[in-house]
Amino acid sequence: MRCSTLPTASSNSPAPHVAGSTTVNAPLPQPEGGAAGAAIRTLDLVKQYGSITALAGLTMTVGRGEVFGFLGPNGAGKTTAVKLLVGLTRPTAGQAWLLDVPIGDRVTRRRIGYLPELFRYQDWLTAREVLALHCALADIPAAERPREIEHTLETVGLAARGGDRVGTFSKGMQQRLGLGVALLGRPEVVFLDEPTSALDPVGRRDVREIVRGLKARGATVFLNSHLLSEVELVCDRVAIVDKGRVVALGSLHEVIGGAQAVRVRLTGLNGAGHAALHSYGDVRHEGDWVTVTGLDADAVPDLVADLVRAGVQIHAVEPRHDSLEDRFLQLLTRPDDAAVEDTS
Ligand SMILES: Nc1ncnc2c1ncn2[C@@H]1O[C@H](COP(=O)(O)OP(=O)(O)O)[C@@H](O)[C@H]1O
Ligand SMILES: [Mg+2]
Repeated sequence: MRCSTLPTASSNSPAPHVAGSTTVNAPLPQPEGGAAGAAIRTLDLVKQYGSITALAGLTMTVGRGEVFGFLGPNGAGKTTAVKLLVGLTRPTAGQAWLLDVPIGDRVTRRRIGYLPELFRYQDWLTAREVLALHCALADIPAAERPREIEHTLETVGLAARGGDRVGTFSKGMQQRLGLGVALLGRPEVVFLDEPTSALDPVGRRDVREIVRGLKARGATVFLNSHLLSEVELVCDRVAIVDKGRVVALGSLHEVIGGAQAVRVRLTGLNGAGHAALHSYGDVRHEGDWVTVTGLDADAVPDLVADLVRAGVQIHAVEPRHDSLEDRFLQLLTRPDDAAVEDTS
């Protein structure tokens, strides 16, 4: 496994443990249900940390060559899922396969790359030395290492800084280096846990290009993110996870659905206007703007007429498709959740 985590005292991520338990000659259990050939498959995966349920029965399949977005709010279980898949921690219950081999298998881990959410390299090493160290850890043949290192520095936009020490790097540059480590040796499956969290807009665009490059060479990318707009731009399929469970899974179109949304700028919203809005769909307030999601596009004129009839002043109406963000909020919001609506 090309893993950006080094077992330094200051590392926030656990050191990768070496799985020595796989019996070499024993037949490996295969995934059931026709999912052979998948890059990743999980079946009722549960992870319990004491009384905290981080994953509450995760079942999903990611095909080879897919860019898969794993989305959810903080604490949803995204990092836990990746840690289980790359073998850094063990499930409490359930099963999972990586490239058709049960998770935790040492040989399979050589075929994957991993950018952890939190990591830290030794400040005194140069970027080139960090990559060289990880080339050695990944057992990349010595003759290939120099070319691999220069190519990686180029890919992640650090070619000019390869000789500089990590201690002089900004957070964004460290993130780029972590991404570089995850890409060493052309892994078949790449796990990226919040890869753009420390990056500026240029860095985010670069990561999108890198992900597209990975897809173009047939790699599978498993992308943890809370940045929906990023996922929307690169992912073939997404799973939305909340409280350790998948609440929606499918292509972007399937998850977003054909639902429409309309934004209305209004003033003088009264009880009757409120009732009218709610009769058309889910309602979200942002200042003078109200977004109604899940309504039929043909219903927009009726909605406006109802609001006018209720005495509400309409200043602007913007019909539009539901974005992934709208859908995300809908899925994560209970009807009785007071936080959804700011009716002030
Ligand atoms: N090592 C741990 N010990 C105890 N609780 C943990 C540990 N790791 C994660 N958790 C808890 O599990 C839940 C899921 O966390 P995490 O997988 O990091 O979510 P996400 O990556 O989606 O933000 C959270 O409630 C978190 O506090
Ligand atoms: Mg996380």
